[in-house]
This record gives sequence, C-alpha cells and structure tokens, in this order.
Amino acid sequence: MASRAEKIPPHVRPDLVWDGCFDAFTSEGDDPFVAVTRFHEGPGVFWATDASYGRPGWVATRMDLISEVMIDYENFTAERHGMIADLVGENVRLNPIEIDPPAHHGFRRILNPHFTPKALRELDEAVRKSASELVDRFAENGGCEFVSEFAIPYPSYVFLDLMDMPRDKLADFIGWEDKIMRAPDPMERVGAARAVYAYLKAHREKQLEHAGNPLLESMVHGEVEGRELSYLESMGMFYVLYVGGLDTVYSTLGWTLRHLATHPELQQRLRDEPELIPQAVEEFTRAFSVVVTHRQLARDHVFHGVEMKKGEEIHLPLSLANRDPAVFDNPHEVDIDRKPRHIAFGTGTHNCLGVHLAKREIRIVVEEFLSRFNNIRIKDGGAYRYHTGRTFGVDYLPLTWDI
Ligand code: HEM
Repeated sequence: MASRAEKIPPHVRPDLVWDGCFDAFTSEGDDPFVAVTRFHEGPGVFWATDASYGRPGWVATRMDLISEVMIDYENFTAERHGMIADLVGENVRLNPIEIDPPAHHGFRRILNPHFTPKALRELDEAVRKSASELVDRFAENGGCEFVSEFAIPYPSYVFLDLMDMPRDKLADFIGWEDKIMRAPDPMERVGAARAVYAYLKAHREKQLEHAGNPLLESMVHGEVEGRELSYLESMGMFYVLYVGGLDTVYSTLGWTLRHLATHPELQQRLRDEPELIPQAVEEFTRAFSVVVTHRQLARDHVFHGVEMKKGEEIHLPLSLANRDPAVFDNPHEVDIDRKPRHIAFGTGTHNCLGVHLAKREIRIVVEEFLSRFNNIRIKDGGAYRYHTGRTFGVDYLPLTWDI
C-alpha cells in the first residue's frame, strides 16, 4: 500500500490535502447526501489521499467548478483508454462517453435521434408494462424488498426492450448485473462483464443482416466521418447503453422510494395531483444525484490557482453541485415546487443521452406505486442500507403498504 507521502505529490499545496477516504467519509451516518456536503465547508477543490478505490486525486466541491471541469475538454479529458478493454478483453471504449470532442459529436449524432422524447414515446407502453409486471409479482404480499424485487430488474427489462432482446434473458442479465456490481471477487466481476459483452456481440451480429429496430440499425450501420462505424466503435455503443442505464436508474429509484416512504404527505399530494409527478421527478433527481463522475488532466494546468499535473484524476460528485447552498436555497429540502436547474445528468457535450428515458422510467414507477398502494412506508422501523462510491445507491429497502 502506498505511504501517505507517496499519495501526496510535491506540487499539491498542503492546505488542499485531505487525508481521508471519500467512500468512508460519505458513508458516515444515515444520509450520504448530507454527509458528502460536509465538503462544502472546505475549499472548492482539494486533494484526497483516497479519492476512489484507494487512489488519490482531486475532488471538486461546488456547482461552478464541477460544471467548468465538465465543459473544459482541452484541459480535462474523458478518454480512459484500457479500462473497459481490460474488463471485457477487447480493445473497446465506451462510446461516446470515453471519446472527447470533436470526435465525440459524430458518434453522439448517430444516437441522439433515438433518445428524444418523441422517439421514446413508443417505448412508454413497454416501460409501463415492465413496471406493472414486476409489481404484480409482490402486490398481494403487502410489501416488498424494493431493491432486489424491483429496482434492479426494472432497468434490465427496459434495456431488453430497447435492444429488441428476448424478455426471457432477464434472469441472465440480472445475474450478470448482480455480479458486476456486487461480487467481492474481481475475477467474478470480470467474468460477468465478459458474459454480457459476449451476449451483446452475438446480438450485434444478428442485427447486421436485419436490425430489430431503428436504434440498432444506427448502432451497426451508422456513419461517422463518411464511413460506417467500425466493429469496436459499434460494440462501444452497445456496451455503453447497457451500463449507462442500470446503476444510475436503480440507484435513483431507491432514494426516490425511500423519500416517498418517509413522506406520507408528499405521497398523498402526488396521488391527488398526479400531473405534478414529472416536476417531482425533476426534484428527486436533483436531491438524489447519484453519480460521481470524473475526468483526467489532459495536460499540466493551473485551475483557479491550483496546480494540477497531466494524468491526475479529478472527481466530480454531482451531489455536491446539486446541493450547493450557493445555488439552491435549503438544498437538503426536497421541494417539488422549486423546478431546479441541476446537473444530475451532467452538462456539456457528454450530458446524459438517456435523460428522457431515465425520467420516464422514474415517473412511471412513481405513478405505478402511488396508484396501486396506499400508505407506503419502510418496514422494520426504517432500516435500510446503502453504499457510496462511483454511484450512491440503496442496497436494501424493505417497504410495506396498505392495499
Ligand atoms: C437517473 C438515471 C441517470 C442518471 C442520473 C444519469 C447520469 C448521467 C451523467 C451524469 C452523465 C454524464 C457523465 C459525464 O459527463 O462524465 C451521463 C451520460 C450518459 N448516460 Fe446517463 N444517466 C442516467 C440514465 C441513463 C440511461 C437510462 C441511459 C441509457 C440510454 C444513459 C446513457 C448515458 C450515456 C450513453 C451517456 C454518455 C453520453 C455522452 O458521452 O455523450 N443514462 N448520464
């Protein structure tokens, strides 16, 4: 293990060093979104000796600085060569998230038309069907363990529909997802990622002759810079659509249902006025901004007076942007009337491709639960479990209700 001195390069100003572990610090107490905002008491950017998986790095703590890093493509790169390649055993990059502009635009242009609100309207019925089929399984029990019985399978269901894959693959996808996200043995995680990749690869091959839908057609035969996508560019898109919408959606749903289960008056207001649900979803995604993304220094750079070196990582906990007291009054209060301008889905060129899909998925779940169950609450005196890290997610949320 690296010593403290090895974890603090000489150019890092001593007043900016925080000798701690981001994950441990944000897991203190009952609510990680409150725990993380203790960083607002310190500088706008600091050096953590354990920023992520034991590695040191910069952490930005305010909306303005986080947004600035996300749109400064010259100094902060999103290109992470080798990470996914090592995982799946092929020289692939998440496309377009690991590609900087200007090349990024060509790939994003291929995907954009399939993720507009209009294009997604066709998927609405399938998403609602997925939600209600899952709820049917436990509706009569008077309760469920929300995470394993709903939040984990649901985005996989939606992914299968999006990709025109058979719904009976659900069990396999949940098994793989569970291992990728939770297996303690790294080899098991690698094995599951490779199994997903192999399945996606076989599915892609089937689309070459006859694509199951316009999105798939674009992902196999789309054109960039006047030529067809290469095999690896195409696989990078298949894989990004798989990973982009799983962890994020399931995590946001966990916090959303936990909030509703502990706020009966809000449940009732949304039951009485369901037309408010879309704006409530907007506020839930602000208050429960689950993503901690990052960039790498593309070159040596002085950022607001802070000397940074090429190759260093800078972590961007979006919860710190979206609960920044300089931007939002009472940032910890979930106020569905505030209509927030937030960056839970990122900002700049890499802003979330699936933002409209994600909001639809969350809205449909809130509608489904509130219309079918009364007095939703947490079982066992409110016990729940969560994790922090790259995404803040709920691991265990036992719910009960009156039918
Ligand atoms: C509540 C759910 C979601 C949240 C909070 C979320 C959040 C984000 C964020 C913060 C980014 C920007 C990351 C960065 O700049 O480093 C992003 C990018 C992206 N997301 Fe989402 N996401 C969600 C759901 C989805 C879904 C359902 C999909 C599936 C289509 C998806 C696909 C993507 C893709 C492909 C990108 C990369 C876009 C690019 O680089 O141009 N996301 N998302």
